[in-house]
Amino acid sequence: MQDLGGVAIKMNIKGSTRTCGLIGNPIKHTMSPTIHNNLASMLGIDLVYVPFQVEEDKVGDAIKGAYALNILGLNVTVPHKSAVIPYLCDIDELAKGIGAVNTLVRTEDGYKGYNTDILGLYRAMQTDGVSLEDEDVIVLGAGGAGRAVTFMCATKGAGKVYLLNRSLDKAKAIAADVNRTLGCDKVEAVAISEYSRLPKNKYIVIQSTSVGLAPNVDDVVIDDEAFYENVKVGYDLIYNPAATRFMKLCKEAGAPAYNGLKMLLYQGVAAFELWNDCKVSEADADKIYELMKQELGI
Ligand code: ATR
Repeated sequence: MQDLGGVAIKMNIKGSTRTCGLIGNPIKHTMSPTIHNNLASMLGIDLVYVPFQVEEDKVGDAIKGAYALNILGLNVTVPHKSAVIPYLCDIDELAKGIGAVNTLVRTEDGYKGYNTDILGLYRAMQTDGVSLEDEDVIVLGAGGAGRAVTFMCATKGAGKVYLLNRSLDKAKAIAADVNRTLGCDKVEAVAISEYSRLPKNKYIVIQSTSVGLAPNVDDVVIDDEAFYENVKVGYDLIYNPAATRFMKLCKEAGAPAYNGLKMLLYQGVAAFELWNDCKVSEADADKIYELMKQELGI
């Protein structure tokens, strides 16, 4: 029995125990086992969660093998989130639009793919009392994360979505794709250097670049106090460090700011719920959140 700050994990693997896991490369620093093994223990669900390091040319073999081994579900992390798609029997609409999958759920015909990363961000925002409905949004970054965030904002009722990126072409491609897929014109691509030309407004700003990630904790993608006067609430997808320079600048301008740890928590919670056809209470999610903070030393 391992005592993790009040929540005890009793490893009791039996003939009936179901297996879930994570495929990615590297996977050494993942917090997903903490999320899922503790949820299983707390909810009395007979499940164990293990990491599997999978090389890029072995993604198809891994998925076929997992299915043959009766594995209930998999999470998928970098660099396999798009590579898994050809091996699925079905894909959720949101994940299809985003073009990335982080959760595979076993069905009779194979695995169905979902994107709980982005459902996780949405749920984190809801628990923070932040609604996207008719709100204007600035997304900083047009990589894989920025693409998913832009898609989510446009799907979940945001007003205008400005997608700012250093390379304008990447932002333009995503804006065109999201607008076409959703039959709207709410997403507009802007070069990040042109941020001061955005209409004066109060925006939900979602920092989706890798700038500011440890160890480069003093970096920030826009370093101008005037920009932060336009922030209604700031989200940074980064959770290491727990308080990024982006978040500090938001707070100095009087706006609340949140890191990406709750998004990580809720992507796990949403995957766990899909695998086990259950609902995790907010009280239980809070306990897992405390364990994650403990693991990160924050
Ligand atoms: P992810 O899949 O995590 O989003 P990614 O696809 O490598 O990672 O994207 C990283 C994002 O951070 C991109 O938006 C990138 O901008 P470019 O598309 O112009 O490369 C952004 N980014 C990284 N370093 C940056 C920097 N120094 N200044 C501005 N943006 C930066």
